[in-house]
Order: sequence, then C-alpha cells, then structure tokens
Amino acid sequence: HGDRDDRRGASDRRSGRKASKRSRSRSRSSSSDHQRRRRERGHSRSRSRERSHERSRRKSRWGNHERRQQDAPESEDKGDKIAEEEEDAAEPLPVTLFKDELMKAVRGSQVLVCTGETGSGKTTQIPQYLLELVRERDADTTASGGKDKDKDEGVALDTPAPGDGKRPSHNNKKLLVAVTQPRRVAATSVAKRVADERGCRLGEEVGYSIRFEDRTGPRTRIKYMTDGVLVRECLEDPYLSRYGVVMLDEAHERSIDTDILFGLLKRALARRPDLRAVITSATLDVERFAAFFDGCPFINVPGRTHAVDVYHSKTRQVMTATGPASPRYVEDAVDIIRKVHRTQGPGHVLAFFTGQDEIERASRLLSEAVAQEKIDRRAMGIEEEADNGVSEMIVVPLFGALSAEAQADAFKSARAGVRKVVMATNIAETSVTVPGVRFVVDPGYVKQKTYDPARRMESLVVVPISQVAAQQRAGRAGRTAPGQCYRLYTRNCYGGMLGETVPEILRTNLANTVLYLKVLGVDDILAFDFLDPPAEDQSLEALQHLYCLGALDQDGRATDTGRRMSRFPLEPSLSRTLLEAGELGCLEEVLTIVALLSVESIWFTRSKGGGGGGGGAGSGARGKRGERDEEAEASHALFRHPLGDHFTYLAVYRAWEASGFSDAWAKEEFLRVRALRTARSVRSQLLGEVRKASGGGRRRGRQEGGLEVTSCGRDLDKVRKAVCAGYFTKAGQRCSKEWVYRSLAVGALQQEGDDGAGRSGLTLMYLHPTSSLVHAQEPPEHVVYTELVFTARPFMRHAMAVKGRWLRSRLEAVRPCSSDRLCGRALAAAPGAGGGKEEEEAAAAAAAAAGAAGRT
Ligand code: CDP
Ligand code: MG
Repeated sequence: HGDRDDRRGASDRRSGRKASKRSRSRSRSSSSDHQRRRRERGHSRSRSRERSHERSRRKSRWGNHERRQQDAPESEDKGDKIAEEEEDAAEPLPVTLFKDELMKAVRGSQVLVCTGETGSGKTTQIPQYLLELVRERDADTTASGGKDKDKDEGVALDTPAPGDGKRPSHNNKKLLVAVTQPRRVAATSVAKRVADERGCRLGEEVGYSIRFEDRTGPRTRIKYMTDGVLVRECLEDPYLSRYGVVMLDEAHERSIDTDILFGLLKRALARRPDLRAVITSATLDVERFAAFFDGCPFINVPGRTHAVDVYHSKTRQVMTATGPASPRYVEDAVDIIRKVHRTQGPGHVLAFFTGQDEIERASRLLSEAVAQEKIDRRAMGIEEEADNGVSEMIVVPLFGALSAEAQADAFKSARAGVRKVVMATNIAETSVTVPGVRFVVDPGYVKQKTYDPARRMESLVVVPISQVAAQQRAGRAGRTAPGQCYRLYTRNCYGGMLGETVPEILRTNLANTVLYLKVLGVDDILAFDFLDPPAEDQSLEALQHLYCLGALDQDGRATDTGRRMSRFPLEPSLSRTLLEAGELGCLEEVLTIVALLSVESIWFTRSKGGGGGGGGAGSGARGKRGERDEEAEASHALFRHPLGDHFTYLAVYRAWEASGFSDAWAKEEFLRVRALRTARSVRSQLLGEVRKASGGGRRRGRQEGGLEVTSCGRDLDKVRKAVCAGYFTKAGQRCSKEWVYRSLAVGALQQEGDDGAGRSGLTLMYLHPTSSLVHAQEPPEHVVYTELVFTARPFMRHAMAVKGRWLRSRLEAVRPCSSDRLCGRALAAAPGAGGGKEEEEAAAAAAAAAGAAGRT
C-alpha cells in the first residue's frame, strides 16, 4: 500500500482528510450491506455449531482443494495493483460485518475471544471499534462529573503508592486501547496503516511502541505495541491502569510474552471490573483461550478467501525433526519462483525462508538466474519474454531485523506488469499481509528458538513447520483471487508434521520471564496462571540462574539488583553485565559491547555459512571456514582482539565511529551496515535506560553509585570483570588437551539436596569457529561465553578470556540454595504471608521498580 499511501498522503494535503472520508465511506457501505450479509452468513449460530461448520469448511478447502470457480483472474489484463485497489475499495473487510456483534459482546463481557482469517481486518479494525467503546466511557465519566481536562500526559503518574494496596483510580483519565503484537514488524506496519486510515499522523491518535522505539504521544489513544513492551509496562503498572481495553492479537502465535500477558491480564481483570480484554487469533483452535478466561464468549469472523490449489512435491520424501533433510530447498524454491514467473499470469509471489541468510542467498540466486536468462535470450535473438502480462520481477526481502523503510517495501504495491517476489520469514505467515499475493512457495521450515534443559543450551534450529502453519502459509495465496501454493515437501511429510506449533514458553530459557514475574510480586512462580505451564525443571533452572546473578535472594524474592536488571530489555546476563559495568566505571565500553551482542551478525560474508546472521547461531558452525570470502576474512582479521570477541566488537564499533559512522567505510570493511546502525540505535536506547536508572532513583540514590557512563580507558580488566559478573555461570576451563574446554559452572550450581543428576555430565566445549580467540597463539586458560550452541559440537559463542580467580571468587560466593525456597513455595506457605499480600507486594515492587529508573 506504500504507493497508495504516498498518493493518499498527497491528496490529504490537497483535499483535507480524504483518508478518513474513505474509511467512513467504507463503514457506511458495510452497514448498508450489513443486514443482508448477516442473514446470508447466518452469523448468529451457536458457538459449537459455528465451530463444526468452520471445520468442515476448512476440510473442503484443504482436503480436496475443491476449487470454487471464480471469474478467471487472468481474463482481465489489469495487473494485480488494480486487484489490490479493488479489494480495498469494493468489499468491506469481513470484520466490519461483525462490528455490532463484537461491540455487544465486549460490552456484555469482560473478555472476548475472536478468531478470523488472516487479512479479515482484526488487527486494523477491531482496535478502532474498541476506541469508540472507550470514548463512550470517556463521555460517561465526564457527564458524571469526572474532571476531564485533557490530562492525557499524566496517566502514568498514577501508579499506586507502595503498600497502598488499592487499585489505582483512573476516573479522570482518558484510557487507551492497547493492541499487542508478537512481532515488531506487525506493530509498526499496522500502526502506520491505521493512522493512515484515520487520517492522522503516526504518534498522534494512533501510535506504536516497540523495544527501543516509542512512537506514541500525549494524544495517542490506540497504541500498537509488541507484547514484550506491555509485559514491561506491567512492571510499573500491574493493573494496566492506562488502558481501557487490552487486545492480545495473534494469540495463536503463543509467543512467550503473550502467554505471560494472559496470566497478568487475568489478574488485572479480576481487580478492575471496568477493564476489557479481546483475544484474537488466526486459528480456530482457541477453546483453551476461552476456557482460560472462565468460558468467555467467542466470535468467529468467517473470512473472505479464495480457493488455493496446493501442490506437493513428489520427490522430497524425508523431513527430519532436527533440520532440513535437503539443504537444497533454497535452490528448489528459486526454481519454482522462476517457473511461476515464466508461466503464470499476474500475481505476486510469497516465499517463506527461515532467516536473513537464506533470504539473502535466495534473492542472490534468483537475481543471478534472471539476469542470466536475459543474456541467454538475447544471445538466442529472442526479443520479448513470454506474454503472460508480467514483464518484470522485483525481489523484496522481509524479515524482522530489517529497517522500517526496507520493510515498507514489501507492502508497497507494484506497477502493473511487475511481479513482486517477497522473500519472507515467518513474519508473513499471519502477522502481516502482503497485498496481491497469488503464489506461495513453502519449503516447510522455520527457524525456532529451542532450549535443551539437559544440555543447558539454547539454540536457533531450523525445524519443520506445523500443519497449522502450513495451512496459514497456503492461505496467503488466496486473499486477492484464487491462488496456488507450492509445497516443497510431499503429502506424506505434511501428514507427519506436528498439528500445531509448540508454544515458545515450552521451548525457551525462562529466566527473564521468571524475573519479570518475581518483580511483579508473583512469589510462587510454579503457581502462576500460565496457559501452558513451563516444565518445572526449566523454571527451577531459571530461578537458580537468577539467584546466581544476585537477582533473587535466598527466599526467591527479587533483590534490588534483580529489579534494576529487569528494567533493561535484555537477557539477565546482559543486564547484570551492564549493572556491574556501571559500578566498575566502564559503561562507555560495555554499552557498545552489549548493543553489538544484541543485534544480528555484523560480519558480511559473501559465501554464506561462515558468519552466521541474526541470532543465527547454528549457521556459523555449519559452513566451512574455507568458503568464506577471503577478502572479507582478511579485512575482519584486522579487528580481531586477543582477549576475545567482545573486544573485537568494540574495536569494530570504534573504527566505525571514527569514520563518522560511514556506510561506505563499513561496506569497504565487509561489515553489515544495517547491523551496525541497529547497534548504534540500540546503544543510544540503552544509554537512555541507563541514565534513567541513575537519575530517578529516590530510594537508592547517588550513594550507590548509580550508573554513570564512564570509560575505563586502557584498563580493560574492568570490562572483563563486568562481563564475568554476568557470565560466570557460562565459563570454561581449558582441558589439558588444547582447545578443548570443560564447563566450570557445573559443580558450583549443585544445590542442597540436589544429587546433580543430569547436570554433572561433563560437557566438553569448543571455541566457536568465528571467535577471535581461535586465532590466539595459544588457547586462554579460562573463558566466559554468551551461549553454547550445539551444531557439530558444543561451541562457545562470543568468548572472552578471563582470569581464573575472578571466576572462582564469583562461583564461591554463590551459597547453595534450595529450589523450593527460590520458587517461592516456602514464602507462599509461610504463615502471615498469604495470598492477600500479593497485591500489596506487587504495588510495592512496581513502585520500587519505577523508582529505580525514574519515570518513563
Ligand atoms: O489482522 P487481520 O489479519 O485479520 O487483518 P488486518 O491486518 O487488519 O488487515 C486487513 C486488511 O488491511 C488486509 O486486507 C490488508 O491487506 C490490509 N493492510 C494493508 O494493506 N497494510 C497494512 N499494513 C495492514 C493491513
Ligand atoms: Mg492481524
């Protein structure tokens, strides 16, 4: 819609608020059709009838692929841009037909679960309805005497005082509509779209807030945000007192933060009868959601979709649980895209890949192939291409780490005669809708964070998608017109896939989650109301980790350190490192290091497999070092620091800074400009957090040293000690055999009454091939690392040489503590500390957390 945006923007300037007129006319047309359509669709079926109807409808779509005959799309030679426009202008979005019903349900019940096909308008429309609802209440409040003097800015200042225990009053506040998204891309692109629909600028009535970027203002009433941001807001404001309605969107994604929000929201709803919640999901299997909220009402919005012909590969028989059976699926996908482009009429192509590396490789392969084709054609004297109405092809990448502008390219409509090939990660599965797609290429894989508690390793692994995901992907082809989906796996493979994707909470390291919950005052972590409670041993491990870092005391309560750590949007080890750096006086350096550790890989390598991208932990080790582009390698070698990767990053960043943050310089040095820019922005955001953490703390003050941003100069030991504070639990000691390390943390982490079973197994570890320490004269005696990735062997990623005595003193300082105490069971069971206190504690904790960092 980018082009449309531009034109719309221009016409806005000319003729006032054309965009808002547009949306008004859309809702008018929808209400005139409303009654007829309601009858046609028989929307007011009982819940169970509706579900079974939906099931059979789905079966017919996916079982036999019976093709509902539509007007042949190819018959009109208009190009798909027009199709997009028509789609937008002619038929109202399915959700608009259900507006009344939705509103009625939200008025009548605190929680509503709503499902509907991707693209039916849930994310863009429902929040606008909800705003109407909140506005009605504004009016009521004003009428009933509440003083309402445009005091929007003051909203957040009304969190409860410590120990006050009452729910915050928000009678005279204009409440907001919060809409959470599991993905940043979705939050930003949808906010832009809705701002546009309402004829306002982003950050006015409609805004977004994502990690490291807040585009909201005092007048914002609809706030799109990542679910993580809302969880973090809960730290300050456990009852979500700024919001009148909270919409948990894309709940089917089951991201860890959305899962936590389920529990937090339930708690807030119980305390605030005026609060409303809407849970939306793209899939129908949401009985659990409704059951979780005590059997709340449930609405399904039937989608407007076209038939999709699904083709399975006949050859690729095997798909293993641990990764792709055929490493050639990128090439296969490219072949299919070329075939589609040659033989099919207008319509964009959407191809799913597992990450940045693959997308870059695929687009390179495709561009090369297309260029070669042109040369061949010319050589053979063929002037024109086959006449299928598409003469040109453009390739557009779409993945989370892309800059906002680059992401917008994917949503822009193309000129007539141009076929857009969008190469996307899972983002395009349900989170965002790329207009005009008629062909989907699905290799059947996704990159997922997976945690193995036995090995204590978290890694990104490429795994087969679930059946639900495969259906969603195919569905992307049928939004504008009948479409086609090419699956690069056999029908049998499809049958062997998991039915649904495993929720993130069941495959992640829980430390951050647990810390959030602890700071929120949830004592007994194991009793928290999770949709899917995480495995007990994982929770206990997270507790132990936090305890080792000093974030929890022996009773499992969040310590001051823990509260301060939870302010940073970083994993606990990184936050702990930052805090220590503040105390030691090397924040200048450590901020840079932390920023670089939290972005995708900065190394640009032409032949993939050497550098690894993003969190692409696995990719680095998989490729052969010999494949790396020699020039790049030589250039990167100049930055290598003998003390380890952290200092290498620092050197790179400083050199880039010295070049005046020059793109040209970065490219010359074979560095990823985008990653560096992101790191720079992350650094400045963190700097902001750090300044807040030192400024606003009334409770702890300057005497504690706050967090001053100073440089350690040449005293690099300070940086090493700071990193040690966060990572001493991930340490290796060199075995007598060179280049092999054994884990140091094991013994120290054994707890009272814990026989150490499952932990005591000796893990042999190796320096990651990309580590600068690999090039050291001799391997350092002791190292810490950020994560252990298990590919060919257990590799220590981002390693740094440290001194043994620092490690020992850290490890010895950790007094063993039983998991029972840490999880808070003991506290919860203790007399006088019953459940009634939870509220006060939450309030006190929140106020303390807020005090620690000043007001956002
Ligand atoms: O949330 P759901 O998948 O139900 O749909 P949505 O995101 O609200 O999208 C509704 C319609 O708006 C779709 O037809 C999209 O093509 C369009 N849209 C768009 O063109 N650009 C966006 N950034 C978001 C939505
Ligand atoms: Mg949506």
